[in-house]
Amino acid sequence: MAESRSHNPSLIHVLILLCFMTMFSTGSCFGVNWGTMSTHQLPPGKVVKMLKENGCKKLKLFEYDEKILGALIGSNIEVMLAIPNYMLQMMSVDPSFASAWVDMNVTSYRYTGGVNIKYIAVGNEPFLQTYDHKYIRHVLPALRNIHEALHRAWLSSKVKVTVPFNADVYYSPPPNQLPSSGDFRPEVRDAAIEIIHFLYINDSPFTVNIYPFLSLYQNPDFPLDFAFFDGTKAPVIDGDLVYTNVFDANFDTLISALTKAGYSDMEIIVGEIGWPTDGDKNANTENAQRFNQGLLKHALSGDGTPARKGVIDMYLFSLIDENAKSIDPGHFERHWGLFEYDGKPKYRLDLSGSEKDTGLVPVKGVSYMPRRWCILNPDVHDLTDLGNNIDYACSLSDCTALGYGSSCNNLSAQGNASYAFNMYYQMKNQHILDCDFMGLAVVTENDPSADECQFPVMIVSGDSMSRNQGLLDTLFRYHLWLLVFWVIP
Ligand SMILES: *[C@@H]1O[C@H](CO)[C@@H](O)[C@H](O)[C@H]1NC(C)=O
Ligand SMILES: *[C@@H]1O[C@H](CO)[C@@H](O)[C@H](O)[C@H]1NC(C)=O
Ligand SMILES: *[C@@H]1O[C@H](CO)[C@@H](O)[C@H](O)[C@H]1NC(C)=O
Repeated sequence: MAESRSHNPSLIHVLILLCFMTMFSTGSCFGVNWGTMSTHQLPPGKVVKMLKENGCKKLKLFEYDEKILGALIGSNIEVMLAIPNYMLQMMSVDPSFASAWVDMNVTSYRYTGGVNIKYIAVGNEPFLQTYDHKYIRHVLPALRNIHEALHRAWLSSKVKVTVPFNADVYYSPPPNQLPSSGDFRPEVRDAAIEIIHFLYINDSPFTVNIYPFLSLYQNPDFPLDFAFFDGTKAPVIDGDLVYTNVFDANFDTLISALTKAGYSDMEIIVGEIGWPTDGDKNANTENAQRFNQGLLKHALSGDGTPARKGVIDMYLFSLIDENAKSIDPGHFERHWGLFEYDGKPKYRLDLSGSEKDTGLVPVKGVSYMPRRWCILNPDVHDLTDLGNNIDYACSLSDCTALGYGSSCNNLSAQGNASYAFNMYYQMKNQHILDCDFMGLAVVTENDPSADECQFPVMIVSGDSMSRNQGLLDTLFRYHLWLLVFWVIP
């Protein structure tokens, strides 16, 4: 008895210590997605420095990128590295292809003091309904081959595999459409559960992307306050559980689906979540700050969702705006960044979730092109060809700030032309020949920006996106719609 009593305090001490260690390792911990579909990349070394200054401990990358991985060496930032969908088929049929990928892209970085690669994301939303099942059958074999390759490299205990799913793999069937009736969609249920089983027995997490912004974007009747985390006049009541925000309701729909399948204690990571700042009437810095700050506070509090307590593990979407993303999903798609294209924070955000009065640290030492803009020449009077020239400039640059509800929607027709010409000119690195437009345009040194509507000056970048990557990303990496699947209160 005496002996066991003398052991008990030390056990308790160990438990307390473990508890503190978990608090410190997850308490102020946030992850972020770093997408690179921009015409002008910030230098990866400067971005990694900024991530460290902001206390960012976890990063998700959509594809192997030599310069980014190189910049992460020695940083100790934990990395989730994705294999793009177009590689899944090769990975699934050819174990040596999977092995080569692991050797070159993982093992070679995973030495002491190298890059802390913790997860391999096999595919990106490969079950998305718009992909029409074309990747589904490749996912499990690819997952197996990657897992085997990690095992052979003695890494399978340190590097875990996962698959980022879109939330459209599950739903709440009618009639009541409540989180507690959640299940996987019948047409993908078997395939999803096979993957979940594989992940589960290999101690690997289920990853899901959840987008409350899209619930609002797709459904004009969606109650605005239900998208955020500061309460609602009309909560959703589900038995004993009360839902005041759509994130919790969505997350618990997944918990119900997993529970029905027999995996009630499956580890879940939210792979993407965020709010855009332009390109739609609900996409602005006020809403983005309200959402992201509310989310961080909620996720890090440990309160969890009504169905599952604990800190929610997640990666914000996204780090920096991407001016070359496909706008098929909507104009907002290029404006998800916490940071502008030049590494300036868009709004105040406290990443520890405690709402202290601290802002984000910007990327430092960014080089800009000269302060010059291309605008509609005020002396030109024949504007017959203006429309065609605007269309041309916009088709090859980024005019997503001009649309309804966006930051530059109040410009005059002339202002629209200047905006389009300038975006084209900046993306073309301010070459004088790219500010002509059949004589309609002229270069100015007076900043045409007004209030909300910014006319950017491009950054100097030695690292413009390669044409191939742009095409592949456009084809394979746009998000699709998260369906709204329960009754609005
Ligand atoms: C490493 O990953 C990149 C991008 O996913 C890919 O192009 C390259 O082929 C990979 N290396 C190997 C040896 O598979
Ligand atoms: C545009 O003008 C409308 C009407 O005057 C105003 O309500 C809105 O706030 C303006 N938007 C911006 C982005 O300035
Ligand atoms: C400016 O362009 C936007 C987007 O194409 C359009 O919605 C708006 O009506 C234009 N404004 C004027 C005054 O032509």
